[in-house]
Amino acid sequence: MTKPSKFAHVVYMTRRYDEMIEWYQRVFEAEVVHQDPALAFLTYDDEHHRFAFANLELLKPGGDGGRGDVGVNHVAYTFASAGDLLATYKRLKAAGITPYWPIHHGIALSMYYQDPDGNRMEFQVDHGSVADGVAYMKSELFGNNPIGVEYDPDVLLARYEAGASEAELMAIPDGPPAGIPAAHGMV
Ligand SMILES: [Fe+2]
Repeated sequence: MTKPSKFAHVVYMTRRYDEMIEWYQRVFEAEVVHQDPALAFLTYDDEHHRFAFANLELLKPGGDGGRGDVGVNHVAYTFASAGDLLATYKRLKAAGITPYWPIHHGIALSMYYQDPDGNRMEFQVDHGSVADGVAYMKSELFGNNPIGVEYDPDVLLARYEAGASEAELMAIPDGPPAGIPAAHGMV
């Protein structure tokens, strides 16, 4: 079977947006790669982001800030290729496990799953090099659409099995900027 090549990042939901970003900058000596009023992405090494923060005060106003409201949104594992990700998608689908959100983030081709407890995880493939990812996250393209474009994993799997190249599979699909689905817990 195909396995993740590395652990990549963790995303937190918070109602202390500025304070959390400052804390992670201080504790991990992390750099902010992208920040807008809703989302911030930080790194401390050769990964394009190690932490992201979703500002619930903006995305989901009115919560109490307690556990179950704030906290870990998802953790992310990187796969080495789109082929590996799609082979995993096929294996899991045969076992009745399907992603709740297939989304191309621009920086990464992703599928989000939930475990039986509802913990979310992202299986992703980097689009290009880490330097490409950082450059993209600092670009206006990402500023205009930091979420990405949704795709149909069955269509992508069929293209993979028909022999599409890695570059073709990794291309950002045409489509409107995606919204964040309710299953993702941020909105
Ligand atoms: Fe992620």
